[in-house]
Amino acid sequence: MTAFQALQLPNGTTITNRIAKAAMEENLADASQGPSAELLRLYQAWAEGGAGLLLTGNVMVDRRAMTGPGGVVLEDDRQLEKFREWARIGRAQGAQFWMQINHPGRQMQANLGQQTVAPSAVALELGGLSKMFPVPKALDEAEIQALIQRFARTAQLAEQAGFTGVQIHAAHGYLLSQFLSPISNKRTDSWGGTLENRARLLLEVVKAVRALVAPSFCVAVKLNSADFQRGGFDAADAKRVVQLLNELDVDLVELSGGSYEAPAMQGDARDGRTLAREAYFLEFAGEIAAAATMPVMVTGGIRRLPVVEQVLASGVALAGIATALAINPALPKQWQAGQSSSAELAPIRWKHKALASLAYMAVVKFQLRQLSLGKHTHAGVSPLRALLLEQLKSARRTRQYKRLMAAG
Ligand SMILES: Cc1cc2nc3c(=O)[nH]c(=O)nc-3n(C[C@H](O)[C@H](O)[C@H](O)COP(=O)(O)O)c2cc1C
Repeated sequence: MTAFQALQLPNGTTITNRIAKAAMEENLADASQGPSAELLRLYQAWAEGGAGLLLTGNVMVDRRAMTGPGGVVLEDDRQLEKFREWARIGRAQGAQFWMQINHPGRQMQANLGQQTVAPSAVALELGGLSKMFPVPKALDEAEIQALIQRFARTAQLAEQAGFTGVQIHAAHGYLLSQFLSPISNKRTDSWGGTLENRARLLLEVVKAVRALVAPSFCVAVKLNSADFQRGGFDAADAKRVVQLLNELDVDLVELSGGSYEAPAMQGDARDGRTLAREAYFLEFAGEIAAAATMPVMVTGGIRRLPVVEQVLASGVALAGIATALAINPALPKQWQAGQSSSAELAPIRWKHKALASLAYMAVVKFQLRQLSLGKHTHAGVSPLRALLLEQLKSARRTRQYKRLMAAG
């Protein structure tokens, strides 16, 4: 298996190679929460870079529930033209272009001024940064049903706009992942307790999405291989959820790991385990992938072609890459041309882990912003500078978001 062999998905769709640009929240929405000209420029760079599958950064299914200010929202057809243009650019070089759809649940900052919701009223535990996130309100039955419909509606709109698929985000501690984890889901009704109950919301969302889109439209799920927290969602749970997803028409499962509380997706487990230096989740993916009837993609710590090949040799169908493609969007094209390019960030070894994690995100977002302005990336940017810049931009976007919400 080479990285440049095509992959056929269960619904008949072909992905031209085995490299996927994984989702990265861009915070590049325009003033009305649609895709901006800068966002489109960024995706042009990735489309030209040669990855067979491009996943958007998470797009919100509800404007009241944002993973961050400056996020793109798709909940009605008012701005569909802008999404059509985004889809056209993403697909222009032949890539599959899927929209990742998400709801943050309790992982939404207090300063956005919205009520946060979650399976249970359990707040995030982030040490000194905990107060950035309010105690969420537990969702009631009607709200859960409305949420399922929101995911389905956003997927339907993505299809109308010309995207070739959606990825339902059920990883990284966001709402669907909160339902899956016994740490955040303390419910005693049919949405909590046993793993089957905790997985119910994800399964209902997949079914509702499938019911509204064409069979040729791809439906994927991003799932944690584990939360990497003691008492959390573990690899055996992930395997069982994949078996439940086998029963539905899911075209791809992407395995990642971690949450805001335990950012394993940055290579940092919080349950005493050590993750591999490259391809962090490969060790956990093998058994889960063996249980899956659909192709599996693994993301996290992949930066070099030999590692892509190692991932593929282990029986995983696609290698997902985020950070390295933010630094060098043309990696797939260069690898195919025989170059041994790689793209890496220097580790941030600050004592304050949560702050170091924010700085890492800021350094990557700095690269996205550069690309969105048609400029060169700068992997050596100082993490402190990137963090301060990101804080300033975020404060401005937060004010803009609050004005927008206040105006109704
Ligand atoms: C700036 C940034 C934003 C991210 N946003 C998202 C997102 O919107 N949705 C998602 O599923 N993962 C998101 N991720 C996680 C990546 O998809 C990926 O799982 C993680 O970065 C590990 O892969 P990597 O080592 O190749 O970066 C983000 C990562 C970074 C660095």
